[in-house]
Amino acid sequence: MRYDVLTLFPEMFTGVLGNSILKKAEEKNLVSYNVVDFRQYSEDKHNRVDDYPYGGGGGMVLTPQPIFDAIEDLTKESTSNQRRIILLCPQGERYTQKKAEEFAQAEQLIFICGHYEGYDERIRQHLVTDEVSIGDYVLTGGELGAMVIIDSVTRLLTGVLGNETSAVTDSFSTGLLEYPHYTRPVDFRGLKVPEVLLSGHHKNIEEWRHQEAIKRTLERRPDLLEGRKLSKREKEWLEAFKGNL
Ligand code: ADE
Repeated sequence: MRYDVLTLFPEMFTGVLGNSILKKAEEKNLVSYNVVDFRQYSEDKHNRVDDYPYGGGGGMVLTPQPIFDAIEDLTKESTSNQRRIILLCPQGERYTQKKAEEFAQAEQLIFICGHYEGYDERIRQHLVTDEVSIGDYVLTGGELGAMVIIDSVTRLLTGVLGNETSAVTDSFSTGLLEYPHYTRPVDFRGLKVPEVLLSGHHKNIEEWRHQEAIKRTLERRPDLLEGRKLSKREKEWLEAFKGNL
């Protein structure tokens, strides 16, 4: 996976890409990060990248020229159709685990991060393949969104996580929230680990975890259960849990 990020604040990325799993993924050559200050592409004599909006009104708008030129430069070597050009903005499609899985199939993800300003509409219409929002709130810029996407996509790539099963069983990948975890000690200040987990009975443990995942999802994110196909067992558990809510 090749990541290219167009931003006016490249240093925002050094801490996130230079630590922990994202750093290790790069060291293992599973990903490459290319963070570019798109101001360097500006043809304006003062290196400006934004301008006043036609029609008046407040706020500045990112001009198309530096961003078009930067993208043309970043894509000139290959014609991959496995490339996505992602614009971060609050009006975009809401980002989910499903979208992360889709992006993880690409070979190249290019992010366009605005900061404070709006984007000239021609950037949206003629350059980008995806407009993405990371949630229903407004950030000062797209950089944090790009980092969220890079993080959530990278951990899905083969070889990135040591324990390959963890990306498969974690919350959302299964469509359910994760079941509760416990480690030593068995008794911490009188708070005990559920008996079943100490039993060594794998089938019972698996069933308990499955039930707890359903219960937790019902309590915290009932919306996740709505479109889900439930097995007969799951339906029975759900009815029982609902009775106890
Ligand atoms: N830029 C500003 N707000 C944003 C959001 N919620 N998601 C992605 N990019 C943004």
